[in-house]
Amino acid sequence: MKRIAVFTSGGDAPGMNACIRAVVRGAVYHGLEVFGIRRGYSGMINGDIFQMSSHSVSNIVQRGGTILKSARSKEFMTPEGRAKAFEQLKKFEIEGLVAIGGNGTFTGATLFYDEYGIPTVGAPGTIDNDLYGTDYTIGFDTAVNTALEAIDKIRDTADSHDRIFFIEVMGRDSGYIAIQSGIAGGAEMVMVPEVLTPISEVVEALKSGWSRQKSSSIVVIAEGEEAGIATEIAEKIRQQVESNIDMRVTTLGHIQRGGIPTAYDRILASRLGLGALEGLMNGEKNVMAGIVNNELVYTPFRDTIRLPKPINEDLLRMVKILSV
Ligand code: F6P
Repeated sequence: MKRIAVFTSGGDAPGMNACIRAVVRGAVYHGLEVFGIRRGYSGMINGDIFQMSSHSVSNIVQRGGTILKSARSKEFMTPEGRAKAFEQLKKFEIEGLVAIGGNGTFTGATLFYDEYGIPTVGAPGTIDNDLYGTDYTIGFDTAVNTALEAIDKIRDTADSHDRIFFIEVMGRDSGYIAIQSGIAGGAEMVMVPEVLTPISEVVEALKSGWSRQKSSSIVVIAEGEEAGIATEIAEKIRQQVESNIDMRVTTLGHIQRGGIPTAYDRILASRLGLGALEGLMNGEKNVMAGIVNNELVYTPFRDTIRLPKPINEDLLRMVKILSV
């Protein structure tokens, strides 16, 4: 293999730049020519492809976002879109790909390999940490710390005003950000999509805190929670508690997707970027590089896509115990 390309796709995540840097510098080190593709599969279809050098990735290890930009391409999910993408890769003589993204990205790569035989190795880039095959995904640690900083600030004002706050964090189908930021922020309750939490249980917990003169309570809710988004949950609870209890809702939203990556994310992204590149060079295909128990492993895309990544329910039990 002489020429490879790297791209980022799906929702961006802090640390993606550190990952791109590792792929590019690793390729230069191993004597490969390396190209960047802008805006994921959209850029592949449109030929937005350019040669990169060691210099192209100077000064980016500390930057949030992705210098290659990102997109979710509907066109690539069509046979016509993939045919156009293949023509572009042929034009640039690209023989292998490193894809930094999540399940949507890996689904596209699998279809592409089946049709055109271009091998892809993935690196898990998503703040949601919802990918089977790695303990942590790139961007998750930074997102948790961003959410935590907000929770700490909200705690100050919640405490001053004796209020209950419902804080919605990201996680489309996953409660990882909610659990970790909730534990670290001393939340009274955490609600996640993986585990059913009856509203009555939340009401009981809040009432019990209130009766014990707790001056503030925080409920951290993952956006994918079954019972609804934070405003809906707060409304249901408002109807079941005394009217003198003051409540507010805060949705943290996309601030969790940006910002300077933590040291943990930069190191993880560097290991996964280099791991993905070297896997591709050694003949791996349709696999995602991951770190499990501090070891680099490769997991087939079909498993990262199909298999759920269970949360540790014991951590939810701990939230309850630690908020008595
Ligand atoms: O997949 C990461 C994620 O941040 C989810 O937590 C969230 O639901 C989604 O992306 C938001 O996507 P968009 O940026 O398209 O609004």
